[in-house]
Amino acid sequence: MGFKVGIIGCGSITRFRHAPEYKANPHVEEIVFYDRNVERAKELAREFGGRVAETVEELLADPSIVAISDCSSNEAHHINTSKALLSGKHVLSEKPLAISVQYAEEILEAQRKSGKKLMVDHNQRFTKAHQKAKELIEKKELGEVLTFKTSFGHEGPESWGVNKSNSTWFFKKERSHSGVAGDLGIHKIDLIHYLLDDEIEDVHAFHGALDKVDENGNPIEVCDNVVCALRTKKGRLGTASFSWTYYGAEDNSTTIYCQKGIIKIYQDPDAQLIVETKDGSVIKYELEPIQTNDNQTSTGVIDAFIDSIINDMEPPVTGQQALVSLKVIEEILGSE
Ligand SMILES: NC(=O)c1ccc[n+]([C@@H]2O[C@H](COP(=O)([O-])OP(=O)(O)OC[C@H]3O[C@@H](n4cnc5c(N)ncnc54)[C@H](O)[C@@H]3O)[C@@H](O)[C@H]2O)c1
Repeated sequence: MGFKVGIIGCGSITRFRHAPEYKANPHVEEIVFYDRNVERAKELAREFGGRVAETVEELLADPSIVAISDCSSNEAHHINTSKALLSGKHVLSEKPLAISVQYAEEILEAQRKSGKKLMVDHNQRFTKAHQKAKELIEKKELGEVLTFKTSFGHEGPESWGVNKSNSTWFFKKERSHSGVAGDLGIHKIDLIHYLLDDEIEDVHAFHGALDKVDENGNPIEVCDNVVCALRTKKGRLGTASFSWTYYGAEDNSTTIYCQKGIIKIYQDPDAQLIVETKDGSVIKYELEPIQTNDNQTSTGVIDAFIDSIINDMEPPVTGQQALVSLKVIEEILGSE
């Protein structure tokens, strides 16, 4: 028998990922949409099928709803996700988990109290090329990882979010908190932790609002670019760049330099993972292009969340892991 799920926040991430992936999941019987802008909830209910809850209280009081996706903007995650957990729902929260470490800890406390599952949407872990890279690194096919380089940038959230203008919440300090660092950077911080089975311990970073302006033409209150040098607990060294001002093709690439060769991820459109070895061989893996703002394929995140509920297993991205990545973002922002 299937079960019902609720979604809080009916903007772009719901339209392009959560709603279609719940709809495609065979265990999901009905989706209940809630947005404080009720028209958005109605629109998605029409598009994907399902019903609308008029208030968050109505949504969370519904005993037939087993799980909730929290797709509200960043400043609301600690409120919605905690409430949903304490109402007895399993929760898949969008990233960043919260706009401060303290709020993230409150969510983790709510999770412990409730005994429900909490998963965070660090979807980069699930792509085929990243899965393959993880496997090669774990098997030490190229020896130990020494250094790494990662980058995530596109033209900015004002062309992605439901409000397609410079007044978007992504540009507001109180609502986004961390600009491109928490929007794109946190994905790659989580990815490096996952791929290397390691944690970033030391950070030197620069960040700034170089180009984006708000609705009044003033530089935005949060950073639109970050560059940083990183050191992990196990002593690996790396660099990372996160940007909302790559005004061309999206860059979602990572390079892992090992003792016996190099793993290049998302640098060639036809071969998503390339292994170059010290002795000169080149192996090209044709896997699957990564999801980008213009190429929305299934991330596998919803299926993994549902599986963790059905099989009563720990979700593959835990609140604790998301908290660790959030702490790195705070260090990046405090680093100058
Ligand atoms: N995992 C990913 O790859 C990924 C990609 C994009 C966005 N996100 C995250 O998803 C979240 C939503 O982003 P988006 O791009 O959909 O933004 P969006 O602006 O397109 O949509 C946000 C929606 O949430 C609603 N909302 C905000 N606060 C609310 C509240 N308290 N209660 C009910 N509804 C509320 C807004 O009315 C809006 O409709 C953000 O945290 C963002 O960082 C994750």
